[in-house]
Amino acid sequence: MDQNYSTTHDPSTNTEPLGMAPTSSPLSQNMTNDDKTTTGGFQAQKKGIINASGTDPNKILPFQYPWAREYYKQGVANNWTAEEVSMQRDIELWKTPGALSDDERRMILWNLGFFSTAESLTANNIVLAVYNHVTNPECRQYLLRQAYEEAIHTDTFIYCCDSLSLDPDEIYNMYLTVPTVKAKDEYVVKFTQSVMDSNFSTTGTANIQKFIFDVVGFYIIMEGIFFYAGFAMMLSLLRNNKMIGIGEQFQYIMRDESIHVNFGAELINTIVAENPEVWTPEFKAQITEAIKGAVDLEIKYAEDCLPRGILGLRADTVSDYVRHIADRRLERINLDTVYGVENPFPWMSEIMDLSKEKNFFESRVTEYQTGGNLDW
Ligand SMILES: [Fe+2]
Ligand SMILES: [Fe+2]
Repeated sequence: MDQNYSTTHDPSTNTEPLGMAPTSSPLSQNMTNDDKTTTGGFQAQKKGIINASGTDPNKILPFQYPWAREYYKQGVANNWTAEEVSMQRDIELWKTPGALSDDERRMILWNLGFFSTAESLTANNIVLAVYNHVTNPECRQYLLRQAYEEAIHTDTFIYCCDSLSLDPDEIYNMYLTVPTVKAKDEYVVKFTQSVMDSNFSTTGTANIQKFIFDVVGFYIIMEGIFFYAGFAMMLSLLRNNKMIGIGEQFQYIMRDESIHVNFGAELINTIVAENPEVWTPEFKAQITEAIKGAVDLEIKYAEDCLPRGILGLRADTVSDYVRHIADRRLERINLDTVYGVENPFPWMSEIMDLSKEKNFFESRVTEYQTGGNLDW
């Protein structure tokens, strides 16, 4: 029904709307003659997903980007909270000596350590960088939804630490003390630092490329690659009927993250479509190299989490899964694939595809839907 509204925006007025990034320019500033159209006597800038100082961020209808609205609705339909999931059996298993092997405990702790802080890094980037420069109101509505989901994910790791009586200093310092975790976080932050500068603006080809790099860094690399070895490991535990509470929470997080990755990819593809001059062979090669570097770090992380095979997982099969996932991310943003590796874990796709089916590990319905999307 929303699609009825999905026409282009009305012509804007020539006053700067409230809610723009502090660095945004007045309507006529930084515009070439090509950027301007004359509508009703006013000079209005062409609408775009970035640099749209003519967009009123408070006027959501009619939609200009219906896909952003669609991802918002998918996010709402997947609503969940950490404390809905019982941790009782996890607590019993975790506290029973010998119930889990040392290698299983290591793998669980390393993933809790990585995700607990990665969720905050991601949330900060949405609020402090992306939201500032993406002024289109339906995209902002999605970003607010995504920020809420990242808060739920952050809450999940607080809940897991509390339930299992883990040492918070140990878990929340692992992004500094575990070299393979630290390397991943530093890699993403390094690529995205310039965008966090309060003087940064997305004006001009070089700055648009920097902004795209930020979106690649967090949406494609962090949420789309660095989360996926961990997802495969934690969902293997669930398949082996161990730590089923944490496993179920990771399943919900993965479902949310798959929408985050799709939104990020659509954001990149839209910026490129609206600013085709930025998509040079050199820039595309730079992004592909960044993704290859991320795959190498994710493989090192998997080897560190899985020094020996457990739960039907080995570091080399997890590595192939990471390569397979990276190719899917490259395709999604219209870049050539690199690895050509078969998916070694087809069951991961089955989990993603579960739709209103009972969770095959438990009797609980995982894919419950709420609100207007509920199919009675
Ligand atoms: Fe998240
Ligand atoms: Fe996310």
